[in-house]
Amino acid sequence: MTSAIDKNSLLEAEAWELLEESVIYYQGKPIGTVAAHDPQSDALNYDQCFLRDFVPSALVFLMHGKAEIVRNFLVETLKLQSHEKQIDCFEPGAGLMPASFKVHSNGNEEFLVADFGELAIARVPPIDSCMWWILLLRAYEKATGDLTLARQPDFQAGIKLILDLCLVHRFSMYPTMLVPDGAFMIDRRMGVYEHPLEIQVLFYASLRAASELLIPDEDGGDTYLGKVNRRLGSLKYHIRNYYWLDLKRLGEIYRYKDNEFGKEIVNKFNINSESIPTWLTEWLPETGGYLAGNLGPGRIDFRFFALGNLMAILASLASEKESQSIMNLFAQRWQDLIGYMPVKICFPAMDGLEWRIVTGCDSKNRAWSYHNGGNWPVLLWLFTAAALKAGRTELAQAAVAIAERRLFKDKFPEYYDGNNGRLIGKEARIYQTWSIAGLLAAKKLLENPEYLELISFAEGLEVPGCSL
Ligand code: GLC
Repeated sequence: MTSAIDKNSLLEAEAWELLEESVIYYQGKPIGTVAAHDPQSDALNYDQCFLRDFVPSALVFLMHGKAEIVRNFLVETLKLQSHEKQIDCFEPGAGLMPASFKVHSNGNEEFLVADFGELAIARVPPIDSCMWWILLLRAYEKATGDLTLARQPDFQAGIKLILDLCLVHRFSMYPTMLVPDGAFMIDRRMGVYEHPLEIQVLFYASLRAASELLIPDEDGGDTYLGKVNRRLGSLKYHIRNYYWLDLKRLGEIYRYKDNEFGKEIVNKFNINSESIPTWLTEWLPETGGYLAGNLGPGRIDFRFFALGNLMAILASLASEKESQSIMNLFAQRWQDLIGYMPVKICFPAMDGLEWRIVTGCDSKNRAWSYHNGGNWPVLLWLFTAAALKAGRTELAQAAVAIAERRLFKDKFPEYYDGNNGRLIGKEARIYQTWSIAGLLAAKKLLENPEYLELISFAEGLEVPGCSL
């Protein structure tokens, strides 16, 4: 009879094997992982290495001392970074990192072909790629202690190019970053344009990483550091003050006056209390809270987005008290946010006329499917890491146990559907790499919470004078 421990390690070995099968080689060296290895579906672009999808794989490799693949990935993707703005409007802006890349060959010669969104469905720009790249560079440093890679001139230049792209002043009145719809993991039209939380939190975390990685130098290094630290301060102030939602805050918004003008006003963004959705007043628990999905002129998107909230805990963008409230929300709305498969990508789903208008009748994003309220196993590693950082280990253990019970049997689907994530996603691929890596990373984090340092940031360690 096999014991529970044996069974557990057998399953883990199976997941490892699947992860290793997903590795992409370039000129004989491992450089990334394919998005999915589904023998039954048309590959489309799932045979490519997506930068965001590689993050959990990279963390797993780093946790197992296999840093070479991560180093190769960082080196090769840096070479792909866009450098010049061309006249053709479909050329990517300088600094942008691709959404994905693939190895092509011409006879014996291999080369990489990158997609900056010019081939992707709906031609969406992957704004999160450059942010994940910086975060991964920091994780690589933390895991290996190798400080030389990020200090190489080409890496310093790459970081600065990303900062040029992200810190540029365009038409925004806020310190948050103005982006088009579908610029991150949710890469379809979902009403996540303007100032979506997911991008703002990644922006904040990547600025924190950049401030650690940049060398102050004569040719402008200090200027960059100064800019980064100023932006960190105002971003943190803005998000903490204006995105945060709990019962107290909801009560304030409910009693807002509108059309206020001038400096000392309460309703700065002209939010109309009638825009508070009816589900929210019942749903928000007494001791729970979260960061709203978006904030713009006359609009708060009250939906709950998991990645932004979890990453806000890891980046210490949410205060310690807020982090506890976010975890309380998970604990008290467990069926909605975790259900039969951690974690719900956003809550609630849009349906009917709202779905028609906001998604443009996107059939893949019908209510409670895919990005529109589906459950994504990849988010398990973020949930586990955030729960551990907030000292809520029991929640992480419970979520990992739920995922483990189903993922092997279901062959690691990309996503699940239904209010509580009970069904395998309608068009989900199986053997989706980040579902495999998400579970492996979560288990490793539970085993050894010290790995948290690869991806988390302590509160208040910004440069003095800039923290709030
Ligand atoms: C889908 C997801 C995106 C992911 C890609 C590859 O397009 O929306 O987030 O990176 O698939 O898995």
